[in-house]
Amino acid sequence: MGLLYAEQVEYMSVEEMQETHENEIQILNDIDKLATKHQLHKTEPDALIAKIDEYIVHVKKHFANEERLMQKYNFPSYHMHKTAHDMFLEDLDYALKQWKRSDNIEKITNFIRKTPEWIVLHVNSVDAPTANFLAAKMKE
Ligand SMILES: [Fe+2]
Ligand SMILES: [Fe+2]
Repeated sequence: MGLLYAEQVEYMSVEEMQETHENEIQILNDIDKLATKHQLHKTEPDALIAKIDEYIVHVKKHFANEERLMQKYNFPSYHMHKTAHDMFLEDLDYALKQWKRSDNIEKITNFIRKTPEWIVLHVNSVDAPTANFLAAKMKE
């Protein structure tokens, strides 16, 4: 069973936002699988670490691109949306530091495993209305 399914999050009216969400969900599910494998079979964490690195790059690009679109089309709730992103990135950064400090990879994998709840809430209540606004502006 996957950690999160694309069907659990609302479909975006802006295609590039939808694609980004689907890719990120895929990466999260890959991390979940690799973390389970590492825990159960004590496999080398290399593949898991590479996936976590990919996730960090992806999440930052994901947020930066939404922020770019919001600014381009003068989205009125830009600051509220950006603050939500920044708070998430701070929590992610904290988990990364805990991992590096303790050398316990579960500090970050446990954090990542808890993110679907935030993602579903953010995508459905913040990204969806943002995408609707952007899609309307893009048509003008
Ligand atoms: Fe998003
Ligand atoms: Fe967002």
